Amino acid sequence: MKAGIIGGAGYIGSHVVLELLLAGHEVVILDDLSSGSRLNIPQDDDRVSFMEGDFTLPDVLSAFLSRRPDVLFHFAAAKAAGESMLVPEKYSRQNIRGTLQLLERLPEYGCQYFVFSSTAAVYGNPQKLPVDETHPLRPENYYGFTKLVIEEQLAWLGRLRGLRYAALRYFNAAGYDPAGRIRGLEKNPANLMPVLMEVATGVRSRFEIFGTDYATPDGTCIRDYIHVSDLARAHVLAMDYIVQKKDNLLVNLGTEQGLSVLEIYQAACEVVGRTLPVTYADRRAGDPEQLVASARKAHELLGWEARIKDPREFLSSMWQVYSA
Ligand SMILES: NC(=O)c1ccc[n+]([C@@H]2O[C@H](COP(=O)([O-])OP(=O)(O)OC[C@H]3O[C@@H](n4cnc5c(N)ncnc54)[C@H](O)[C@@H]3O)[C@@H](O)[C@H]2O)c1
Repeated sequence: MKAGIIGGAGYIGSHVVLELLLAGHEVVILDDLSSGSRLNIPQDDDRVSFMEGDFTLPDVLSAFLSRRPDVLFHFAAAKAAGESMLVPEKYSRQNIRGTLQLLERLPEYGCQYFVFSSTAAVYGNPQKLPVDETHPLRPENYYGFTKLVIEEQLAWLGRLRGLRYAALRYFNAAGYDPAGRIRGLEKNPANLMPVLMEVATGVRSRFEIFGTDYATPDGTCIRDYIHVSDLARAHVLAMDYIVQKKDNLLVNLGTEQGLSVLEIYQAACEVVGRTLPVTYADRRAGDPEQLVASARKAHELLGWEARIKDPREFLSSMWQVYSA
């Protein structure tokens, strides 16, 4: 198959490119390098081609789709939940308008398969744990809303235009390719583990833990972290599923294991071999106490489950890149 990857120079997209190549596919990457890195694009592989450009520009999109991908993976979104509440226009322009325009153009180019990066943020505050796909959809931030809008549009296009799609609701992606093939660092990361790496390399002066009085065993928030290589593997399985079964797919991707902020901080200290500077701050508004996925549906439909669960494995795969 020829896979088009919008945002393939970014953190998750680049790991998916590796998995697609491993499975024998050809990839065409479109990326404007706004948060991705050239370092993440495999060199010396004639199955990989790269176009630099903004997918929201009609001419760029036409040139890209003229390469006639059989399946399109779309990673290019603005993704900072906090920022989305301050500058919603940026998120509506890119995540909603840009993606709707992209979806409108697919039939022209005969592309029938679409794999979409959705998020656990579509659920909002968990009303039951673990969170499965039947959980109510009540995003607490505008970012989550933008992803929900596209999920709903995909359902309509599935019915009206026969688009076959996979909407993958990721929990917190973390880690790097354990074989060290992805070298581009995330720009301005907001997630816990890359922030810890930036503390370890001196880019940030200290790590802040927000809230130590939650009703969790150590008082800090609990999240479900999924290793990016496990996540990438699920994308190839999801592509195979929609192509072979000619059916749509909507699944959570998580480990089903909760890790607390403190556990991750301690694992980071262990991996880097020293105590990282930390401060304890008040709770942040809107942070749910616990968020853990049910990934049973992905297991049943794709035969997929996360292989990496030890926080030290997540962090050591990152440290080899951050400490290089
Ligand atoms: N990282 C996570 O934990 C997480 C969790 C849930 C969902 N997601 C979703 O997964 C997707 C990928 O996330 P990521 O962490 O790899 O982010 P990322 O920022 O590393 O990757 C996005 C890529 O898209 C590119 N891009 C951005 N705007 C573009 C544009 N207009 N035209 C062309 N390229 C553009 C960037 O340069 C970057 O390479 C996003 O849709 C995000 O919402 C991520």
